[in-house]
Amino acid sequence: MHRRRLEDRYGRVATDLRVSLTDRCNLRCSYCMPAEGLDWLPDDSVLTDDEVVRLVRVGVELLGVEEVRFTGGEPLVRRGLVDIVRRTHALGVETSLTTNALGLARTATALAEAGLDRVNVSLDSIRPESFAAITRRDRLPDVLAGLAAARDAGLGPVKVNAVLMRGINDDQAPELLRWAIGEGYELRFIEQMPLDAQHGWSRDGMVTADEIFTALESEFVLKPADEPRGSAPAELFLVDGGPATVGVIASVTRPFCGDCDRVRLTADGQIRNCLFAREESDLRAALRGGASDEEIADRWVTAMAGKRAGHGIDDPTFLQPDRPMSAIGG
Ligand code: 5AD
Ligand code: SF4
Repeated sequence: MHRRRLEDRYGRVATDLRVSLTDRCNLRCSYCMPAEGLDWLPDDSVLTDDEVVRLVRVGVELLGVEEVRFTGGEPLVRRGLVDIVRRTHALGVETSLTTNALGLARTATALAEAGLDRVNVSLDSIRPESFAAITRRDRLPDVLAGLAAARDAGLGPVKVNAVLMRGINDDQAPELLRWAIGEGYELRFIEQMPLDAQHGWSRDGMVTADEIFTALESEFVLKPADEPRGSAPAELFLVDGGPATVGVIASVTRPFCGDCDRVRLTADGQIRNCLFAREESDLRAALRGGASDEEIADRWVTAMAGKRAGHGIDDPTFLQPDRPMSAIGG
């Protein structure tokens, strides 16, 4: 077996694989999807459980993948999730899940038993009206129950990802932080990126990391936590002297592309070397065409070599990717 690395021409090595298991979701967050949903991928183009596990195995055994995060859409709506997690865990890598937590109260224990290490939960407001306005579904209690179940099942540290939107929940940063600290969750704010299906993002509409700091510092004292940031996108701060922390992911105003160690596999079997990539590499066609593991690995290595230096959101020539976030995986 010939072991290689997923290295690009800038010397970055991808070891963190994000696997989207479905493009479907049971919420309709306004920064992600229109109210009516999207044209979902046809069933026969979505990888089967066996196909997902085979590609993950190629990544781990042949290409040095060390960590696998399952995403969507909403990965909990994928029927085979627990089994996919179990088989991935058996490959000896870290596994985690990015989820909206709807239904997590029912599956957290099974996921933990299957070997899932951690979850990240997307939650932008703890006010029922704001939650319903943002997600277009009145499901806040289910999310809170899912979060508690994840914590109780040992899927921690449980991280909560929040996106702030101007005029909608940008006044709620301190209350979200106070709540998260009380519950024992690690809160991270993410700058909204131009990845919505409706192409409604504008730089002026985005709540910046600096604005988030200002809002938090009205109620808390924040000090940079000294652990090295490495390839982790969140800048971490101690809250009121610690031990509680808050993270800020300034994807747009302070991009971390130079330290990126991620690669993405879409639910329909395409490798994307970046969230903002304009090209994909079709591993599903290779797989279904009878390619060997080595041939699939070759194709994957080639796909990574062409990774761009950065997302270029600030370049005049920036083009939003054709696929929205829900079809790429966070
Ligand atoms: N910008 C930033 N974050 C986003 N997410 C979804 N769409 C966007 C966007 N346009 C977040 C979700 C989830 C994670 C996968 O990415 O809230 O936490
Ligand atoms: Fe669903 Fe996540 Fe998109 Fe919200 S952001 S609609 S939870 S995929």
